[in-house]
Amino acid sequence: MTDPTPQRPRILSGMRPTGKLHLGNLVGALQNWVTRQDEYESYHFVADWHMLTTDYADTSELQLNIKEMVTDWLAAGLDPNKATFFVQSRLMEHAELHLLLSMITPLGWLERVPSYKEQLENITDRDLHMYGFLGYPVLQAADILMYKADAVPVGEDQVPHVELTREIARRFNGFYGAVFPEPRAILMPASRLPGTDGRKMSKSYSNAIFLTDPPAVVHKKLATMITDPARKRRTDPGNPDVCPVFDLHKVFSKLEHINEVNRKCRAAEIGCLDCKAILAGNIDARLGPIQERRKPYEENPQRVWDVLEEGTARARKVAQATMAEVRAAMNLSAKVEIRNQKSEGKN
Ligand code: TRP
Ligand code: SF4
Repeated sequence: MTDPTPQRPRILSGMRPTGKLHLGNLVGALQNWVTRQDEYESYHFVADWHMLTTDYADTSELQLNIKEMVTDWLAAGLDPNKATFFVQSRLMEHAELHLLLSMITPLGWLERVPSYKEQLENITDRDLHMYGFLGYPVLQAADILMYKADAVPVGEDQVPHVELTREIARRFNGFYGAVFPEPRAILMPASRLPGTDGRKMSKSYSNAIFLTDPPAVVHKKLATMITDPARKRRTDPGNPDVCPVFDLHKVFSKLEHINEVNRKCRAAEIGCLDCKAILAGNIDARLGPIQERRKPYEENPQRVWDVLEEGTARARKVAQATMAEVRAAMNLSAKVEIRNQKSEGKN
C-alpha cells in the first residue's frame, strides 16, 4: 500500500516535444490542462520517446524543443505547484513497463489501431515500418497505467489509444492480479483551429500563429490569411460560414465582435482587412498575459529545467511504487521469493 488514495482524481496527459506551441495547441490541449489543474491531481509529461517513434532520424533539436514547449506550458498558466511536469525519458520505469506490457499485447490489437495504418499511409517522407512505431500505443499504455490515472484528457484521435490501454490493463490484471485501474478518456473538444492557409493549424504546415508571436507578427500573419474565396472585392458580400478567419473570431473574439462581423460581412459593410484587424487585436489580448508570464523563464531557462527536475522526482516516486507492485505481481521480484522461503521455513 505505497500509493495512498489521492483526494482528487488523477489525470495524466503527454505532449510530444514539438517546440514552440501555437494557438491550436493552446485551445486544443493546454487551456484544458490549465483549467483542470485545481480540480484534478495532474501529471503532464514531455513524450520525448513518443517523438522518436516518428522523428527518429534527426534528434538535434530535441532538448531545445523540450525547453520551448515546457516554457509555453508555464506561460499558459500551468502551475508547477499544482501540477506535476516531467520528462518521459528520464524515467526508466516507463521503458520497463513498456517492455513488460509488450509481452502480453497481441500484435492484432496494435495493427488495428486506426492511427497506425493512417500514419503509415499519410506520412511518406520517412519510413515508419519500425518496431517502435507499431508499439507506440503500448508505450502510451505504460505512461498511463504507471500513474494509475483515473482519466486521460485527449483529443479524438487518441481515444483508441486509451481504449487499448484499458484492454491491456484488463489483460494484465487477468494474468497477474488486480494491479491497474482502467482509465477513462476525457474527450477534449475537437478544436480544428484553421491556420493561415485554411488547413488545420500545424507547425509542419507553416501556417501557425505561435504563443510567442508579438502583435506585429500576428497582424502580418492574419493579413495573409485566406478568407471566403468567393469574396473577391470589398463590395462583394461575404459568407463567414466558409471563412477560416471567422472560425478564429469564434474562438478569440467577444460575442459582440462575432455578431458584428457576421452581420457586416454578409452585407459587405466591413472589409476583410478591418475584420482581420479586429481579430488580431483580440488574439493579442489573449497572448499578452501569456507572453508576460513567459519572460522570466525565457530570461532564465534554468528555471524551466528546475521545474522539470522537481516534477520528475515526484513522478519517480509514483513510478517506482507501481513498478515494485508490477514486479511482485509478475514474480519478477526476488524479494517475494525470499519472503516465501522465510515463511515456509517458519512452518
Ligand atoms: N500519443 C499522444 C499524442 O501524440 C502523446 C502521449 C503519449 C500521451 N503518452 C500519452 C497522451 C499518455 C496522453 C497519455 O498526442
Ligand atoms: Fe472572412 Fe471577415 Fe472577410 Fe467576412 S469580412 S470574408 S469573415 S475575413
